[in-house]
Amino acid sequence: MSSWYSEGLEHLWLPYSQMKTAGKPLAVVGAGGVRLKLEDGRELIDGIAGWWTAAHGYNHPQIVAAIKKQAQALPHVMMGGLVNKPALRLAKRLADITPGDLNKVFFAESGSVSVEIAIKMAVQYWNNKGEPGRTKFLSFLGGYHGDTTMAMAVTDPGGMHRAFADFVPGEIFARLPEDEKTEAALEALLKKHGGQIAALITEPLVQGAGGMKFHDPGTLKKIRAAADRHDLLLIADEIFTGFGRTGALFACDQAGIVPDIMCLSKALTGGVMPLSAAIVREHVFEAFLSDDPAKAFMHGPTYMGNALGCAAANASLDLFESEPRLEQIQAISGQMEHELQYCQNIRGVKNVRVKGAIGVVELKETPDHEALGRAFVEKGCWIRPFGNIVYLTPSYIIGADDLSRLTSAIHEVLKG
Ligand SMILES: Cc1ncc(COP(=O)(O)O)c(C=O)c1O
Repeated sequence: MSSWYSEGLEHLWLPYSQMKTAGKPLAVVGAGGVRLKLEDGRELIDGIAGWWTAAHGYNHPQIVAAIKKQAQALPHVMMGGLVNKPALRLAKRLADITPGDLNKVFFAESGSVSVEIAIKMAVQYWNNKGEPGRTKFLSFLGGYHGDTTMAMAVTDPGGMHRAFADFVPGEIFARLPEDEKTEAALEALLKKHGGQIAALITEPLVQGAGGMKFHDPGTLKKIRAAADRHDLLLIADEIFTGFGRTGALFACDQAGIVPDIMCLSKALTGGVMPLSAAIVREHVFEAFLSDDPAKAFMHGPTYMGNALGCAAANASLDLFESEPRLEQIQAISGQMEHELQYCQNIRGVKNVRVKGAIGVVELKETPDHEALGRAFVEKGCWIRPFGNIVYLTPSYIIGADDLSRLTSAIHEVLKG
């Protein structure tokens, strides 16, 4: 291994890793399309699109060209008192493509921070409207909303943030209202705590990092209806589901609902630059308009609206417009349904499910993640299981042959 690898690795703290025992990460020196190029010359087909970001594959020439052009003109300028053209163009385009009157865009750098922003917005919305006691959030078991403090607080408490259980504020958790019993339980919680709650927060249609659990659009409609009945805001965290992952541009489109705040990140820039947004409906924005400066929203990430990130996002949106992404997602979906079903008969497999460009093989037991990961790498695939889930969320440009290599790798490795 090169010295840049071994010397640098001495100083790097890796995500979600027990650094005493974690295996060595692979050194990536390049990427293109759906392939990662390793330092030792091997190539891996990325089955998870770089943590669900690289919608158009890696190094898409149009996105790279847009960043290069923007870098020469203006890589970044602060947003306090100054604006840049790509950010303005992106704000208008996001307002146009997101549902209903989600019209005002607040930029940040990461998904978790956009969730923090949405939560702060909801609290101050009620404060500004003269109801300062509404500071609680109702979230759903199985959900995941990020790793910062309030994002952890609204994430399923039984998940990976258990070490912080005594630290984060205690929020209210319900099961998704998927049947009469869970609907009634949600209603009871809302009746009990309604006056304290600022908003409901949910991952529409797919709870991703909490276990790739799917629910149908009817459930999402019920969540919207429950928020309406109790006059509460609804935050839709589309950080994972946004930009086509569930088969529609936004998961909320499939239910025909408009959340009051929508969080976007991940595929927003096509997986090239860190960028996120909290997009709000007109009535939310209006609650902050006042002659009183104290009613302004007090938040402003240093790199918000970063011009390079916004240029990348605009180029990514151009690709969604000019290329048949939703058709590609449908084809990926059909192929995964067909090819992953062969895993159903493997001992140790609990079930196989597909929604949009998400293919999941759920195991009965939690496997040795590192051993599985190594076995996938030996087959030339980058697939990163978590919990008892082995899943694919490929780039939408993946060819049928490469997708078959991924599904076969899962089949062969699980079959043992
Ligand atoms: C639904 C959802 N919300 C929030 C986040 C956090 O985003 P980030 O990792 O960019 O902070 C994630 C990341 O996986 C996510 O899937």
